[in-house]
Amino acid sequence: MPVTYSGRPRRPSRLLSRLGLTAVVLIVAGCGSSNATATPGASGASSPAASGPTTARPWMDATKSVDDRVAALLGQMTEAEKIGQMTQVENHAPSFTSANVTSSALGSVLSGGGGSPAAGNNTQAWYDMVNGYQQAALQTRLGIPMIYGIDAVHGDNNVSGSTIFPQNVGMGATNDPALVTKECQATALEMNAVGIRWSFGPVIAVPQDIRWGRTYEGFSENTDLVSKLGTACVQGFQGTSLSAPDTTVATLKHFIGDGGTAFGSSTASGPTGPYLLDQGVDQMDQATLLKLFLPPYEAAVKAGARIVMVSYSSTTDGKMHGNKQLITDVLKTQLGFTGFVVSDWGGVDQVVPGDYSGSVAKAINAGVDMVMVPDDYNRFISTMTSLVKDGTIPQSRIDDAVSRILRVKFEMGLFENPMPAAGKLAEVGSDADRAIASQAVSESATLLKTSSGVLPIATTGKKVLLAGMGADDIGIQSGGWTMTWQGSIGNITDGTTIKDALSSKLGSNLTYDPNAAFPTGTKADVGVLVVAERPYAEGVGDSADLKLPIEDLALVNKMRPLVSKLIVIVISGRPMLLDELSSADAIVEAWLPGTEAEGLADVLLGTKPFVGTTPYTWPKTAADAPRTGKSACAGAVYPLGYGLDATGKLLGPPAC
Ligand code: BGC
Ligand code: BGC
Repeated sequence: MPVTYSGRPRRPSRLLSRLGLTAVVLIVAGCGSSNATATPGASGASSPAASGPTTARPWMDATKSVDDRVAALLGQMTEAEKIGQMTQVENHAPSFTSANVTSSALGSVLSGGGGSPAAGNNTQAWYDMVNGYQQAALQTRLGIPMIYGIDAVHGDNNVSGSTIFPQNVGMGATNDPALVTKECQATALEMNAVGIRWSFGPVIAVPQDIRWGRTYEGFSENTDLVSKLGTACVQGFQGTSLSAPDTTVATLKHFIGDGGTAFGSSTASGPTGPYLLDQGVDQMDQATLLKLFLPPYEAAVKAGARIVMVSYSSTTDGKMHGNKQLITDVLKTQLGFTGFVVSDWGGVDQVVPGDYSGSVAKAINAGVDMVMVPDDYNRFISTMTSLVKDGTIPQSRIDDAVSRILRVKFEMGLFENPMPAAGKLAEVGSDADRAIASQAVSESATLLKTSSGVLPIATTGKKVLLAGMGADDIGIQSGGWTMTWQGSIGNITDGTTIKDALSSKLGSNLTYDPNAAFPTGTKADVGVLVVAERPYAEGVGDSADLKLPIEDLALVNKMRPLVSKLIVIVISGRPMLLDELSSADAIVEAWLPGTEAEGLADVLLGTKPFVGTTPYTWPKTAADAPRTGKSACAGAVYPLGYGLDATGKLLGPPAC
């Protein structure tokens, strides 16, 4: 694909005129700002541009090494400019505008879940928004580009019309690293189209208890599988060079132990009440913690990952955001990680309860380099300013943090090309990317049970009844982190539902009713019933009982008498208890497939084979969910790696 960047290397004449303009902007912003500490432009000594073009800006010389460029730029920066680099603000922070990026010399802006542009959720608005922030960053005294970050965890999933891939649980079921690389590469392409080059992914958690609401964000409970697929995704996002067009910089998250928290150990809460596991405590000893959760970081750092996000969770030593031994000694020193560490959303605030300044000091001194504030950046900046002034945070720590951030920005080529090329909006949701997603859906579908002659469904001559609201709902099949943080029921973006996909192949042989309210006397050869978890994200999805919605389960008894063969499709972010499905002839676990359900029709109708295997042990009861230290079949219905092909032949170990 031919690629050109719209951004050009900055020429002296352009820079001079830009800096001329900048001076005016900064004076205005400085006067109007309520934040007296945030006037780095005004506090900057002599403008390097004033003392001559290239020689005064050695960091713009791309023939120099990245380290030399970092040192040259760092040497020019005021304290306020350094603190600005360490600050990341959400685009929906109250009264935040691009002018604040200039006036506070901010290093980064992000979209949280659902953080779409004020102008609307469309691709042009996304590009314009990011470009607006970038132009504002380039207006600062030193013209340091900002970096825009977003949760692209199954496609560029906040952007309307983007390709939504299966959540990582489904990618884990494919056990196909080449496919994960393609997914992340396609995601990077769609992100670049809307101007974004930083993804908050892959999640390389190794969830040990599927009652956790973030289980679906993890590839597997198995450390090796997570290392393999996490690394594959990093390679897809980053390509062979971070500065190559259409690449994004990956983020490994959440360091470390996010998937190891004990049931009931969380003190956090969210929109629907208290959490159970999410943001809780890893009660294991450190040797166990490192053995389970460190290898994916080790592998992905080796593969070139440059950003790591800290976990909300705690170890027995307290909040990870304040854990110097793990962030600095283990990640940075032991693994030799020279990129930067970003905190999670408001995660720094929790370090010392009730003491914001103490929290910031502890987190930065522990090794956090950039802070996802996300709202009150004035408070963060003034707190940092005092902490550096009184020596609580040493200057060397600030210089190290800023050097790490600048290093990644230089490596990404942001100083040469601050924005990806405009005019590529058609890449978003392209047929090519949807084909990759559809392939992933086929490969992820995991056949748990079948008997002979049930699958595939014949495309001619058979009457098929389809039921369950999840059969015709893009929001349900995509799950959380889709258009909004929690995701939602409804046709929230473009895509193909299960009903669309089946009806395009079965035509008038297919009859659909969400509630299985078929006319009396209806009889059919095949029934397909979709039972589905409803969308959730983070601790909102913590579940004590792992039960599917009762209203969906009630349809089993409605469907059973109407059909000769009953196939149940489960849409869920994790293994669910299946006791109520015992009368089904076949059970297909579809995980959270995303927008391209055609891939599901392909396996049901036999166009493609069933190859998916479960990336999590299937527990007998909810109490059997925790896996650490258990043997493969302890308390299990199906072990890790279990799955069948359409004829019922085992693809992995037998059922327990
Ligand atoms: C999540 C992160 C995410 C961040 C930004 C946090 O609540 O834990 O995974 O990257 O929000 O949306
Ligand atoms: C999400 C935000 C959400 C916040 C709530 C973040 O992870 O990205 O959209 O409002 O969590 O805590």
